[in-house]
Amino acid sequence: MTYAIRIHQTGGPEVLSWESVDLPAPGAGEATVRHAAVGLNFIDTYHRTGLYPLPMPSGIGLEGAGVVEAIGPGVTEVQVGDRVAYAGGPIGAYAEARNIPAHRLLKLPDAISFDTAAAMMLQGLTAAYLLRKTYRVQPGDAVLIHAAAGGVGLIACQWAKALGATVIGTVGSAAKGELAKAHGCDHVINYSTENFVSRVREITGGEGVPVVYDGVGKDTFMGSLDSLRPLGMLVTYGNASGPVPPLDLLLLSQKGSLFVTRPTIVSYTAKRADLEALGAELFDVVASGKVKIEVHQRYALKDAAQAHSDLEARKTTGSTILIP
Ligand SMILES: NC(=O)c1ccc[n+]([C@@H]2O[C@H](COP(=O)([O-])OP(=O)(O)OC[C@H]3O[C@@H](n4cnc5c(N)ncnc54)[C@H](OP(=O)(O)O)[C@@H]3O)[C@@H](O)[C@H]2O)c1
Repeated sequence: MTYAIRIHQTGGPEVLSWESVDLPAPGAGEATVRHAAVGLNFIDTYHRTGLYPLPMPSGIGLEGAGVVEAIGPGVTEVQVGDRVAYAGGPIGAYAEARNIPAHRLLKLPDAISFDTAAAMMLQGLTAAYLLRKTYRVQPGDAVLIHAAAGGVGLIACQWAKALGATVIGTVGSAAKGELAKAHGCDHVINYSTENFVSRVREITGGEGVPVVYDGVGKDTFMGSLDSLRPLGMLVTYGNASGPVPPLDLLLLSQKGSLFVTRPTIVSYTAKRADLEALGAELFDVVASGKVKIEVHQRYALKDAAQAHSDLEARKTTGSTILIP
């Protein structure tokens, strides 16, 4: 027996329910992980509202860090007592302890605490594949990163800066702007009060950027296309303001032979070798201090509803963890 947050129907934060659940012995290929910390991510709100449908009833949450308590038959990746972390599923991280396929687990270096791991695995692996794989940032690139003071944003801005990019970040308030500036942004645009498209043109001498990383979605999508230089790439990787409506592909030709991609961490880490390689890059930039993981909010796991409300109300900055 253990406790977990469950959802029986989609809806507002109030549908998150703290319940006792069975925890069977791990099956073949599975490990039981006792969580020291669980990560909060915007995708959890999509699962809760039904934007990303789940079979009901369901657990929730995609990221955690803790200790392996037991392993099932055939597990080779981890041993009992290992410090581990994971991101990207299967769903059900909002739990004191859970069973999970062992091939999703990465062993944590001693330098990385459980809190840091829970705060960085999903957002950091996302920053890793966005900057290193989807569009590989080169020294001298000007890159536009939306929601620069958010979870993915603060990590991506520091990392892009460390790769030698000129980082342009958008934020929703002046205070968030200060934070983004302190974490790698060379230029900050408050998109609540300024037209980010004209500011990006101004900053890039009229040229536009080769890549936009856009986790905001509906509200920024068209402006993101208009911020690109010819042959540029819009990486639309989230829907914090709502999903992007269907796109007329002719727009991409009219606006300069543009590329648009809609990536997910699931595809980029589906193969164990890719998960390990991206994890190694992430552990390296964090352990070396190039990227600092900012845990700015902590909640008791059973208060996940409050955490969801604050995240959706744009009250959070950096990463948020839930403590069982
Ligand atoms: N595809 C993937 O693999 C993947 C993986 C991880 C995350 N994501 C996506 O990346 C984005 C960021 O995730 P995160 O967990 O790091 O969240 P986050 O950035 O910490 O929080 C979302 C931020 O989006 C901005 N935002 C703009 N319009 C908003 C609105 N109408 N409602 C709420 N927020 C709004 C807010 O910052 P401002 O106030 O500064 O505007 C807010 O703080 C999300 O869209 C998420 O789904 C995608």
